[in-house]
Parts: sequence; structure tokens; C-alpha cells
Amino acid sequence: MRSPKFVVPVIALLAAACGSPAAGQQSKPVESALVGVTMPTTKSERWISDGDNIKRDLESRGHKVDLQYAQNDVPTQVRQVQSQIAAGAKLLIIASVDGSALTEPLAAAAEAGIPVIAYDRLLRGSPNVDYYATFENFRVGVYQAESLLNGLGLRNGDGTPGPQPGPFNVELFAGSADDNNSAFFFNGAMSVLKPYLDEKKLVVRSGQVDFTAVTTLRWDGETARKRMEEILTTAYKKNKVNGVLSPYDGISLGVLTALKNNGYGAPLPIVTGQDAELPSVKSIIAGEQYSTIYKDTRELATATASMAEAVLKGRTPPQLNNLNDYENGVKIVPAFLLNPVSVDKANYHQVLVDSGYYTDDQLR
Ligand code: BGC
Repeated sequence: MRSPKFVVPVIALLAAACGSPAAGQQSKPVESALVGVTMPTTKSERWISDGDNIKRDLESRGHKVDLQYAQNDVPTQVRQVQSQIAAGAKLLIIASVDGSALTEPLAAAAEAGIPVIAYDRLLRGSPNVDYYATFENFRVGVYQAESLLNGLGLRNGDGTPGPQPGPFNVELFAGSADDNNSAFFFNGAMSVLKPYLDEKKLVVRSGQVDFTAVTTLRWDGETARKRMEEILTTAYKKNKVNGVLSPYDGISLGVLTALKNNGYGAPLPIVTGQDAELPSVKSIIAGEQYSTIYKDTRELATATASMAEAVLKGRTPPQLNNLNDYENGVKIVPAFLLNPVSVDKANYHQVLVDSGYYTDDQLR
């Protein structure tokens, strides 16, 4: 993804940005500002923690926060952003429902001189996005695919060939097509799976292998359950599916329900995931879902709050570490990327409990 020729400008910018106002910008004292924060939905735990963590962090810095959830409804999110602009927000932090649907409120924000940070999901099709804070999204997909291969036994954890030669039957799921992250996850995963598909060590019996054929609108678990049931009844009359690439825990649980409804029992096919949501971590401990990808939303929230503080002061956020990969259709948005961590039954305790993300009690 990143080519060496881009390394120098990144370092140069970081050096220039560290602690100094960006060219042409004045360092301003930060007063208490109203910050508008919009999140996609409360249906998924991760966005609740994201919202709470950003709010807490900004409030501890003396700011006021208007935190809104759009319940996955685009017009609701448009209205929420518009009302934050009207209420005098000095900065907007947006995790979009549909990354391309906010161009009008973003234009209104620019008109009012309000900077915008895209949170976790890139805002597309608009020049009015100043910064982006997220995780290494391509790497998330790489980790999902590697864990699918590890679970099947085609690969060892250290990347060497595993004990099983295959072939294995797998099915592929991607996230919502209107979320810029979905293609990053899927492309990351396919970069790992493609050679196995080419060599027929992995076979997708449904034939659904293109991104557009495997997306899941709004990341909905029930939509995924229905698609998996449909695939099982049409493509698996005689064969068994051995693994499912799932991009998100809510989808993983929908897929597992479909499998159980169709007579699959222990050991269940290998099913991946993302977000380390509580029900999925419990499922991993119970030996059902195979893996997830942990993204420490506390860290993303803290980093975003300190980026916000820098922007409110008129500075370039010193955190930026990727100036190349996030082209939104109009511009490349300077980004700060955090690392994801692959989690399965073997390391969940060390990664999730020892870090304080969950307590043992929560996982019982
Ligand atoms: C996020 C994932 C999340 C998914 C569904 C994506 O944009 O990056 O962490 O699993 O949305 O909420």
C-alpha cells in the first residue's frame, strides 16, 4: 500500500508539524469550545465506547461536547451535523453512516470556518475534510484472512505452511459498500487469500467473490444471516462450508446463527470478526467464533481528542502518520492510523483483559 517514495514527505511534514503552527496558521489559545461529535449507531457497542471516550476526553480538556447517534439513518446524520453547525460548534468529529452522503453539511461547515475530523470512516467526495483518525484498515483485512487460514490449518501463526493441505470451502463477507473502510478490509483480506483461491486450496462454492457481491448493507448481522442461509441452501447441499471471512463481529454472529440453523455444530466452521465486541469475545471463549480484530477505541478517541485540541489551536496535529493512502475522491486526507491486533482464544486474555479493555467478570 505504501510505497517508499512517500516516506520522505511524511517525515518532513511530521518534523515541520511537531509542536509548531502549520505554515500560515497562528497558534491560538484554546478556549472552551463546542465540539460536535456524530456517531453512526448505538446498535454496535464499539460506537458507544467511541462516543463516550471522545466526549469524556474533550470534556476533561474543558470543551463542551454535543454527541449524537444517527441510528444508521443518513438523513438523521445530515440533520445532526447541520444542527451542530447552527449551534456554533467550533469543530466537528464525524463517524459517518454513509461516507459520501455528507457533502452538503460539510460545505456548510467549511463556509462557517469549522474544521472537520473524519473519525474511523473516511468522509468521501468532499474537499471539506481536514483530517482523518483511524486504524490501519488494510492491515485489519490482512489479519482477518491470516486468522481464517490459521484456523483452517492452512497456515501456522508464524506464516509458515500449516499442517492441512486443503482444499477448504469458504465464503466471503464484506462490510457496507457505503463505508470506505469496507473495501480496505476486503482488499487486505484478498491480498492474503488470493493465492490460496488461485491454487484452489480455498474454494468459494457460491461463486460470490467480488466485493460488490459480498457486501452487507449497514453491516447488519441479520442481513448477513439471511445471505449465509441462502448460500447454505443453494451451494452447500452436498458439501460443508469450512470457513467464513467475516469483517465485523455483528456479521460473524449472524453467520454463526445461520450455520447452527442449518445443522452445523461443534466444531463450527472458522469464522473471523472485528471489534472484539463482548458477545463475540464470549463466543470465542466458548469455541464458536474463531477470532476477532481488536481495535483499542480508547486510544483512537484519545488521539482524536488531542488532534481536535491541536486543530482548535490552529495547529497541524502532530500525530499524522499517513499522508498517502486516504484519497477521498477529491483530496488525500492526512491521517493518523493506529494498529489493530488479531485476537483468538489463545491470546484474548493477554490482549483484552491484561490491557484493562475488559475485566474477567465481563467475560463470564
Ligand atoms: C469500522 C469497524 C466496524 C464497522 C461496523 C467500520 O467502519 O471500522 O470497526 O466493525 O464499521 O460498525
